[in-house]
Amino acid sequence: MENSQLVEKIGVYLNSELVEKIGVVSVCFILSYLLIKHIWSSVKMEKEPTRVLVTGAAGQIGYALVPMIARGLMLGPEQPVILHLLDIEPAAEALNGVKMELIDAAFPLLKDVIATTDVVEACEGVNIAIMLGGFPRKEGMERKEVMSKNISIYKAQATALELNAADNCKVLVVANPANTNALILKEFAPSIPENNITCLTMLDHNRAIAQIADKLNVHVSDVKNVIIWGNHSSTLYPDVNHATVTSTDGKKLVRELVANDHWVNKELVSRVQQRGAAIIKARKLSSALSAASAACDHVCTWVLGTKKGTWVSMGVYSDGSYGIQPGLIYSFPVTCKNGEWSIVQGLKIDEFSREKMDATEKELIEEKQVAYSCLNSSA
Ligand SMILES: NC(=O)c1ccc[n+]([C@@H]2O[C@H](COP(=O)([O-])OP(=O)(O)OC[C@H]3O[C@@H](n4cnc5c(N)ncnc54)[C@H](O)[C@@H]3O)[C@@H](O)[C@H]2O)c1
Repeated sequence: MENSQLVEKIGVYLNSELVEKIGVVSVCFILSYLLIKHIWSSVKMEKEPTRVLVTGAAGQIGYALVPMIARGLMLGPEQPVILHLLDIEPAAEALNGVKMELIDAAFPLLKDVIATTDVVEACEGVNIAIMLGGFPRKEGMERKEVMSKNISIYKAQATALELNAADNCKVLVVANPANTNALILKEFAPSIPENNITCLTMLDHNRAIAQIADKLNVHVSDVKNVIIWGNHSSTLYPDVNHATVTSTDGKKLVRELVANDHWVNKELVSRVQQRGAAIIKARKLSSALSAASAACDHVCTWVLGTKKGTWVSMGVYSDGSYGIQPGLIYSFPVTCKNGEWSIVQGLKIDEFSREKMDATEKELIEEKQVAYSCLNSSA
C-alpha cells in the first residue's frame, strides 16, 4: 500500500472515531441537561407549602385577600400555600362559603384550606398571620369600649399564636386600631420576635403614591419613596420630602415637580388622611379591595425584599429612630432583605415634618395608655 493511501485510510478512521466521540459527548450532554432540568423542576414542585392564617376571613377584606394569596400574589408564583381561615361562630357559615369558593376556583398553588372558629386550630403551624378580625366601632360606642374589646381579642390571639404558630411566624395586623392591636399582640406573645410583628400602613403609602401620580400625570410605578409616619389613623403623616418621580428626564424630587407647598403640606396630607372616609361615603362600606392589595404588598415586600434604592412604609416596633418613643408600633420608612425589615436611617426631617411626626406619636402614646388601662381594669 502506498504511503498516501495509508494516510488517507488513517484519516477516514480518525474522522469517524472523532464524529462518534462527538456524538457520544453530545448525547451525554443532552441527557445530563434533561436530568438536571427534571430534578430542578421536581425540587421546585416539592417546595413546602407556606401556611398563611387570615383572621376575620369571612369579612370584606378577607374575601378580597384570600384569592390574591391563593393566586401567588403575596408569596410569589412558585410558592404553594395552605390557607388557615378563622372567624367567629356567627360568621361560621359565611366562612365555609369562602372556603367553598376557594375550592371552586381550583387555584394551582392552593394545597389546602382550613376554615375554623377555633383559634388554636387556626394558628397551628402558621408561618404568616394576617390579622383582619376585630371588633368594629359601632354608633354611640366610646373609644375606650372598642379598644377594650379589641384588646381582649388580640390578647387571646397572641397567646394562641405564641403557643401554636411556626417558629419565626411573621404577623401583619390590619384590624383597627392596627398599631395598638399589634402592640398588644407583641406584649402577649413575648416569644415571637418583636421584629416579626407589624401593622399595615401600606394602604396609606399606596394612597399617597396614587395622589402624587395623579397630580403630576405620571404612572404610579414612577413615584418612589414616599413615607407614612406614625399611626394608621387620621393623624398619619404622608411625607413627600424624599419622594421622587422617574421620567425620561431622569429622577426628580416630587416637591420640586409639584412646586406648590400648599398642595404638598395641606391638600395631600388631608386627602391621604381622609381617603378611608371618602371610600366609606362612596361605597357605604369601608375600603376592602385596596386594603387587601396593600396587605399583599406589605407581606410580599417583607418576604421578597425591596428594590435597590427604594423603601416602603410599615408599622414596626420603634427602636427610638427619629426620636420616636421606643416600644411603640409606629410607621417608618423601611427596606426589606432576606425576610427582615430595617428602618431607613439618616433622612433629613424639617420642622413641619417633625411637628406632624410628634403629633401622631402623641396619639399612639395615648392609645397605649388607654390600652393598658383597659388591660388593668380587666385583670
Ligand atoms: N390598616 C388598614 O390600612 C386598614 C384598612 C382597612 C380596614 N382596616 C380594618 O381591618 C379590619 C377588617 O376590615 P373588614 O372591612 O374586613 O371588616 P369586616 O367587618 O367586613 O370583617 C371583620 C371580620 O372579623 C371577624 N371577627 C370579629 N371578631 C373576630 C375574632 N375575635 N376572631 C376572628 N374574627 C373575628 C368578623 O366576624 C368579620 O367577619 C377592620 O378592623 C378595619 O377597620 C384596616
